[in-house]
Amino acid sequence: MSMSPTRNQKLLAWVEEVTKLCEPDRVYWCDGSQEEYDRLCQEMVESGTFIRLNPAKRANSYLCRSDPADVARVEDRTFICSRTKDEAGPTNNWTDPDAMRATLKTLYAGCMKGRTLYVIPFSMGPLGSPIAHIGVELTDSPYVAVNMRIMTRMGSKVLDVLGDGDFVPCLHSVGKPLAAGEKDVAWPCNPANRYIVHFPETREIMSFGSGYGGNALLGKKCLALRIASVMAREEGWLAEHMLILGVKSPDGKKRYVAGAFPSACGKTNFAMLIPPAAYEGWEVTTIGDDIAWIKPGPDGTLRAINPEAGYFGVAPGTGEHTNPNAMIACSKNTIFTNVALTDDGDVWWEGMTRDTPAHLIDWKGQDWTPDCGRPAAHPNARFTAPANQTPSIDPDWENPAGVPISAFIFGGRVSNNFPLVFQSFDWTHGVYLAATMGSEATAAADGQKGIRRDPMAMLPFCGYNMADYWTHWLTMGTKIEGDKLPKIFRVNWFRRDENGKFIWPGYGDNMRALEWILARCDNTGSAVESPIGFVPDVQDLRWDGLVDFDKAKFYQIMAVHKDVARVEAETQEAHFAQFGEHAPQALLDQRTALLARLDAAPDVWSLPTAQAAE
Ligand code: OXD
Ligand code: MN
Repeated sequence: MSMSPTRNQKLLAWVEEVTKLCEPDRVYWCDGSQEEYDRLCQEMVESGTFIRLNPAKRANSYLCRSDPADVARVEDRTFICSRTKDEAGPTNNWTDPDAMRATLKTLYAGCMKGRTLYVIPFSMGPLGSPIAHIGVELTDSPYVAVNMRIMTRMGSKVLDVLGDGDFVPCLHSVGKPLAAGEKDVAWPCNPANRYIVHFPETREIMSFGSGYGGNALLGKKCLALRIASVMAREEGWLAEHMLILGVKSPDGKKRYVAGAFPSACGKTNFAMLIPPAAYEGWEVTTIGDDIAWIKPGPDGTLRAINPEAGYFGVAPGTGEHTNPNAMIACSKNTIFTNVALTDDGDVWWEGMTRDTPAHLIDWKGQDWTPDCGRPAAHPNARFTAPANQTPSIDPDWENPAGVPISAFIFGGRVSNNFPLVFQSFDWTHGVYLAATMGSEATAAADGQKGIRRDPMAMLPFCGYNMADYWTHWLTMGTKIEGDKLPKIFRVNWFRRDENGKFIWPGYGDNMRALEWILARCDNTGSAVESPIGFVPDVQDLRWDGLVDFDKAKFYQIMAVHKDVARVEAETQEAHFAQFGEHAPQALLDQRTALLARLDAAPDVWSLPTAQAAE
């Protein structure tokens, strides 16, 4: 056993207990140094887990191919083991905590034989920030250790800050012990026995059988969202599945917004948006692309930090033309998982470049040509890249005090309903808009039609009863004074025309909606009242430089079709009903009020200038 660099009794006792249970060959305390990172990566090159990429193309970067059965989060194997099922709520998997502990104990017994147990102290949030929290992950996966060094602040310096203090214990095993002399596989895992388990009362995480990031990098979804959401409710703050971005206008004024979008809705792209040419003098900067921790600050504003230090981004669809900031972020010091390998030792994935290479090795290690009928990269292939390599990174991204949030933006992918952008009438109405948001399942998911409700984009990540989480949001609105309370907006970049084509150009042009949002926060932008919220009319948005988009199209994406809106409001009844008496009355009342406004509305509600033009 290597020397333990801490005197924290709880930590020492826990490492000893896990060592006894899991029986690793060695225990190694990670110091977080570059030397250690390089050494672990080199060991994985030698064992066949990593392929070193051509240093002339991607300096200090690696490709890793997972087991084809272990490529994504496993929601049906993710559990919230609160005391009662009711506390976990109808949208989480629940098992009695004692029963689950017994099951896991059997699985963990001897599970690390032949392997090294890595002790990984990490901080979610800048070291020592009042908004940050410390966790310690024990894992038998060196892949997890090196990814954690990119995704979090990790190593000895965390133990110094921790001292005798408390931490969230996070136990992870790939679940595949080695017999004496047995040769390991490049990506050990145990797909038949996967458990991603959270004990909210004791704030513990136990993960078994999967090496995939979302299941194994326990600081991210498990700690920073599921466990943190429970802590946040108890302590009066918010742990959200949100990007955070900054906008500086030409007059030098800087504001920040946080946004929640379900997966496949362009969240990373929005966080790294490049404004169109017409926005000379404007600057959009990135604080985070996935998770926001938001606490009331001493000045009465809601202040947000990005608890992560890197991006675990979806590679396919990220390209030079869609997100140059992300492409630069992953140009070096990056770990790629399940992308394709080019003949000159670089990486490639669908959507990366306009030209497709003539030959690749695909994510399964097989020869690939454009006509072979298989994707080159897995649709959920990832890059793990340091956040500070993004050219758009905000100078305050590590500010321990966080940045003040002016607006919350919620968005889904809905092709036939909901305007480009609208503002809630007030906080309660905004929470209702967020609690009912949904998104069309993408073809890649499982071809299902219709809307999956994904309240606040937190459906897979809320560590307690989702309806109690709405109540918490409603309460937070009463804790911040009116002028400091962020305003709430919904956006929808994904309306389609009769031919199924996206109407709105999206990407950088989303800046036009963002500018209006900020103007509304400053009480300078004007709006008109529609049955579903405040909307911009055509003169309220900037249009210069937008080719191929005429007013008629804008009127099309801003119109409220009464029958479609009614069906949407009606299906919300069942959505709320599944929560029984947990569903906040204030949100049920919002639905009733919406139905009444729709009753009074014309069949197609359109903007005043659209009516005048008719
Ligand atoms: C996700 C992710 O699944 O960020 O939401 O990885
Ligand atoms: Mn996410």
